[in-house]
Amino acid sequence: MVQKLKSLKVNSIMSSSPNRIVVESPSNIAFIKYWGKYGRQYPTNPSISMTLKNCKTIMDLEYTFEKSGVELFFEDELNEKFSLRIEKYLCSIEDILPEAKDLGLKIKSTNTFPHSAGIASSASAMSALGFALDKICTENKSIPHRASQLARLASGSASRSLMGPYAIWGEHDLIPGSSNDYALEATDIHENFLNMNDSILLIDKGEKSVSSSAGHALMNSHPYKEARVSQANENFRVMMNALATGDYDSFGNVLENEALSLHALMLTSDPSYILLKPLSLEFIQRLKFFRKEMPVYFTIDAGPNIHVIYPDSIKDAVVEFIEAFTKEHKIDAIHDSIGTGAKVLS
Ligand code: PMV
Repeated sequence: MVQKLKSLKVNSIMSSSPNRIVVESPSNIAFIKYWGKYGRQYPTNPSISMTLKNCKTIMDLEYTFEKSGVELFFEDELNEKFSLRIEKYLCSIEDILPEAKDLGLKIKSTNTFPHSAGIASSASAMSALGFALDKICTENKSIPHRASQLARLASGSASRSLMGPYAIWGEHDLIPGSSNDYALEATDIHENFLNMNDSILLIDKGEKSVSSSAGHALMNSHPYKEARVSQANENFRVMMNALATGDYDSFGNVLENEALSLHALMLTSDPSYILLKPLSLEFIQRLKFFRKEMPVYFTIDAGPNIHVIYPDSIKDAVVEFIEAFTKEHKIDAIHDSIGTGAKVLS
């Protein structure tokens, strides 16, 4: 079954008031995974992601510099925990955005995708917030990379959602100017990779059994930490090369190696986590058979859902294959595609 994304009517939350901004920002799917962090939300390895198009957050912010405090409504309901988290965040970014601590915000946030989908909602929401704050506090002069830096401090992978179709975050010798502070758009991309899709099989809609902060923390004392950092750096190099030359097989190999390595790290952490479900594995097996006919590969985030990544040229066949599986197992899928990042709506 196809899980329909909400088509949000932007008009209903638009306003002509000058102290208001409405932005949208998408989620992203990492091809090289950020797993492990240090210091002030710095990644222990470089990552690259594809920006999504339809799975996004729409954020409407009313703001004032006269009275501080945050009131956040998520899907029309006041969320006190989230409001407090953002208040704390605003106090923590004073060195980057001095105006933030005096800022009063009333935020209405809504996602086009269901919360239970296991799609990185923190990436879309926190990139929307960083993007909006940068605009609110800019006074017409944009500071390069600040929006991504603000997004990163709210949630690491959010730094990559602002731009597209591909974003890289974290230092690597191959990319001049790459930084642990913010993400950059990946520029050297072969046309083979410009029309990609991500179909997400919602294998299990339950709550995640490990938060991403707890997951990153597991890497601090992981016995394979050093090996993971060098593997990620090497995979990053191979992935960038594949994306630049259009080498689809090499791309697919690294894509799956990254997904399975992420889960292998969780399986061997202390405490350990088994996030894949029997149905995740069943689907992977089927996909491997299907690959004999169609060049299609998967990736997985820190959860049981499988992301199937493929070009437009084989879309009909892949969607048909996925729909047969979801129908047989009574689960949903979301079909999304490559996108370009955040924008101001009004
Ligand atoms: O940004 P966080 O803290 O939610 O971490 C995201 C981690 C992964 O989704 C597993 C990988 C990634 O690079 O997005």
